[in-house]
Amino acid sequence: MRISEKPLAARLKELGVELRPGVSMTEKTSLGIGGTTDELVLRRFDTIPQVMRLLAEEKIPHRFLGGGTNVLIDDGELSWVVLHLPTSQPGMRIEGNAAIVDAAADLGGMVTFCAKHDLGGMEGLIGVPGSVGGALRMNAGAYGTQIGSYVREVELYRAATGEIETVRGNDIRFDYRHTSFAPDDVMLRVKLELPAKPFKEILAGIRVCNEKRRSSQPLNQKSAGCIFKNPAGGSAGRMIDELGLKGHGAGDAKVSDRHANFFINAGNASCADMLRLIDDVRERVHSAYGVELENEVIVWKN
Ligand code: EPU
Repeated sequence: MRISEKPLAARLKELGVELRPGVSMTEKTSLGIGGTTDELVLRRFDTIPQVMRLLAEEKIPHRFLGGGTNVLIDDGELSWVVLHLPTSQPGMRIEGNAAIVDAAADLGGMVTFCAKHDLGGMEGLIGVPGSVGGALRMNAGAYGTQIGSYVREVELYRAATGEIETVRGNDIRFDYRHTSFAPDDVMLRVKLELPAKPFKEILAGIRVCNEKRRSSQPLNQKSAGCIFKNPAGGSAGRMIDELGLKGHGAGDAKVSDRHANFFINAGNASCADMLRLIDDVRERVHSAYGVELENEVIVWKN
């Protein structure tokens, strides 16, 4: 989708939006997969309601991209523009036991920032790639920690009202890789309340989690983390592994040799390759175990 109309581009600019024409989503996603579209960087929070109104009036379909680490984007020319919050120098500050962090901040960067201020609890999240906003929306978790446990307040743009609102943590449901946010809510900023802990202790916890992750996950290959959610009481990775599917592929999309719930782009995989592999593995798990695996990765089809 291209914003070729000059007056619209000028109005967006007035609202603090930077228009980047023809951006390949291979560069914006950890899977290195995805077609091309215009990217709009929203440099001012206060104008977001106006920007969204303008896009609606002009009938420009759009989707909000966070860190791009848990999304599988379609191939070719995309039929929507991608909106983005600026990632350089996102705001992070500490007030007592609370951390107030912009959604565009890197999740790991936030964990270490808090650690340096002797605020812990989130050690398990250290190696989870992605933005704070994406982690919030999905309730990212690892090694017994989930971000939702620490959320006191979220500032978001609510598409349903067209306004920026502040929602209390108690009014948000955080479940396993699922939250009660509406699909079109846009995370802007979060306030987390964290337990006080000495930096050295937090660092020791971080090292343990890093080591576990390094030994079990393919960290230096292109992936979106786990492809499927774990079924209740089970492990998707273990089931796929037991079926001997490590290394199994469709084109350049492969099941990782290291962790069977990580699917890798081993070269120039397309979205179609990855979807074929996902369907194939889902069917094999279903016929062997009678379990229907649900995607953890978010799929953006054209
Ligand atoms: N296993 C195998 N073969 C494999 C992979 C795993 O036998 O190829 C076995 C392991 O030996 C272990 C069990 O399956 O006994 C569970 O594996 P693991 O500890 O790696 O955890 P997981 O359930 O596969 C979950 C999260 C990860 C998170 C880890 C650590 C989901 C879908 N996955 O993985 O999150 O990093 O626990 O807490 O909830 C993600 O969300 O993208 C993600 C990777």
